[in-house]
Amino acid sequence: MVLISGSGTNLQVIIDQCADGEIPGRVVGVISNEPSARGLERSAHAGIPGVVIDHRDHKTRNDFEVALGRQIDSYKPDLVILAGFMRILGNNLVRRYRGRMLNIHPSLLPDYPGLNTHERAVADRIAEHGATVHFVIPQLDAGPIVVQGRVQVHPSDTPAALAQRVHEVEYQIYPQAIRWFAQGRLTLQDNCACLDGVPIRL
Ligand code: GRF
Repeated sequence: MVLISGSGTNLQVIIDQCADGEIPGRVVGVISNEPSARGLERSAHAGIPGVVIDHRDHKTRNDFEVALGRQIDSYKPDLVILAGFMRILGNNLVRRYRGRMLNIHPSLLPDYPGLNTHERAVADRIAEHGATVHFVIPQLDAGPIVVQGRVQVHPSDTPAALAQRVHEVEYQIYPQAIRWFAQGRLTLQDNCACLDGVPIRL
């Protein structure tokens, strides 16, 4: 099951790779906190149930989280995939899906957690940037790292140009991590992401 807030281009790649068998699984549902998310059109087009749980309809963060958790649970997903989901999840939900929830973040974590990563990378004139897939833990943009994809930062890069190249890398590494999980090869053991039982070292 995939959680989104926006355009859903990562979602699209996941849907496509499930459809053509590259990922041995299927997307059972999509949840968006944004009613206008373009990703909902993608799920509808693929015949996948899409649900809106608008955080603005809930008085407290906890109310939103309870509603979201109920909806996720109703699909009985093996894996919860955060793909551009722009709300911070609370501890209850994160603990419930420990080892079964992945996120992709547009930086080489632990560098640049949080928002506006491409803008910050360009402003800092760093040489290398990229994206990180990690297991989700209560701490934001942290959690055991599964895989990273790297891109060179050019002196002439704008944040938009850099974002586009990072997205291309995301379309490689996120399906790869999900494929590993679906094959039963990727696990969270203690605080360590493991592939075939061996801790992943970057
Ligand atoms: C991606 O850059 C991802 O790393 C971040 O949000 C963006 C989602 O893009 N978490 P899209 O909605 O998949 O196009």
